[in-house]
Amino acid sequence: MNNDELSRRRQAAVAQAAYSVHPFFPERAEGSYVWDADGKRYLDWSVGIAVMNVGHSHPKVVEAVQRQVGSFQHLCFAVGMHESYIRVAEALGRIAPGPSPKKTFLINSGAEAVENAVKIARVATGRQGIVAFTHAFHGRTHMTLSLTGKANPYKAGFAPRAAEIYRAPFPYVFRNPFGLHDEDAVADAYLAQLKDLVKTTIGETEVAAFLLEPIAGEGGFIPVPERYLRGLRAYADRIGALWIDDEVQAGMGRTGHWWAVDRFGLEPDLVCTAKALASGFPLAAVVGKADVMDKVGPGMLGSTFGGNPAGCAAALATLEVIEEEGLLERAAAIGEAIRARMNALRQRVPGLGDVRGAGAMIGLEFVREDGVTPDPELVNGAVAHARERGLVLLPTGTYGNVIRLLPPLRMSDAELAEGLDLLEEAIVTVSEGALAVA
Ligand SMILES: Cc1ncc(COP(=O)(O)O)c(C=O)c1O
Repeated sequence: MNNDELSRRRQAAVAQAAYSVHPFFPERAEGSYVWDADGKRYLDWSVGIAVMNVGHSHPKVVEAVQRQVGSFQHLCFAVGMHESYIRVAEALGRIAPGPSPKKTFLINSGAEAVENAVKIARVATGRQGIVAFTHAFHGRTHMTLSLTGKANPYKAGFAPRAAEIYRAPFPYVFRNPFGLHDEDAVADAYLAQLKDLVKTTIGETEVAAFLLEPIAGEGGFIPVPERYLRGLRAYADRIGALWIDDEVQAGMGRTGHWWAVDRFGLEPDLVCTAKALASGFPLAAVVGKADVMDKVGPGMLGSTFGGNPAGCAAALATLEVIEEEGLLERAAAIGEAIRARMNALRQRVPGLGDVRGAGAMIGLEFVREDGVTPDPELVNGAVAHARERGLVLLPTGTYGNVIRLLPPLRMSDAELAEGLDLLEEAIVTVSEGALAVA
């Protein structure tokens, strides 16, 4: 069965709402590569949207899952407890940001992690208000799409939205409205705006939590400045609110640290993780300060599949691989190489307006000649060109004008060089074509 035949069957049988960026059907994947139904090989710099950080079908992950399902597949933690759930909680408690003792609750997806973090924050504080941000993506369940910032295609038509959610401007340095260029000055301006919004439109005693991605993922790989996160931590403490850190996309070693907030030594109250946690098996977690987590009584949270044994086995193997193979250091080194090459490319490609991110989570924002108008056509063209040449990339961003780079962290130097050559060729070819047409 080839890509075309599968496409026809998909169109007939699968809901069109389940959109796919690339018109191919992967049949096999190993390490940094994927093979599609036509037998074509691709270097995968999307890794299932930041999931396969340790590469496809890592033997240790495969072996751990096979061993687990050979013993038992499912009982449900609410029925009888399995040790691997406890081991995942212990491991996450050990690597979670900050020195406070931690406790963990396991579920299946990023949206469920965020949704449960909101429930925990409301019970723990006895307050209701959740401050989310523009450019945010927190999932597609009813609560999380209400927290997500982008109308189309995530929210429009799905109203009414959940109540007691407030929206503050995401600290977007490249597109800040203050006309400032210094990162600290931009952070201060956005912080002042946030505090004013809380004081004047919500009330400082009404806020249960601030919910923020440390690097906005779907919003365009936009890193929050360190000064803003420090200010947010201090402000939340002052008004008795919690800080929920959504690390669903940025966490699990992607940024060269276990968590993006580790770059600054900060400790959120609650951390959400999913995606790369279990290398493609549905597992997600809320990891929080023990005294906050234990404000929620027995039986108040739960899930049939949450903390499923196969997911836990995959997570334990994934965490081991990241540690044993030095993938935090590798993520940092990969990121440095990509950033150096892309910053140099800015000399040749005037539309490459911003190169940003942390570790191996890098966004390339494209703009038109005026330096600000988003250029999604260039991004779509470059992504399609790269795919034809054998490199899988993903677009992102509120305006669709960002290429997000999510290479596998075990990638060899040769694979890194191959990917960089294909990426550069795609950007140069499409931007030179666009210039010629203009
Ligand atoms: C930051 C962030 N939070 C939450 C989610 C939702 O995760 P899931 O798709 O597993 O529900 C995503 C998914 O892309 C995400 O990037």
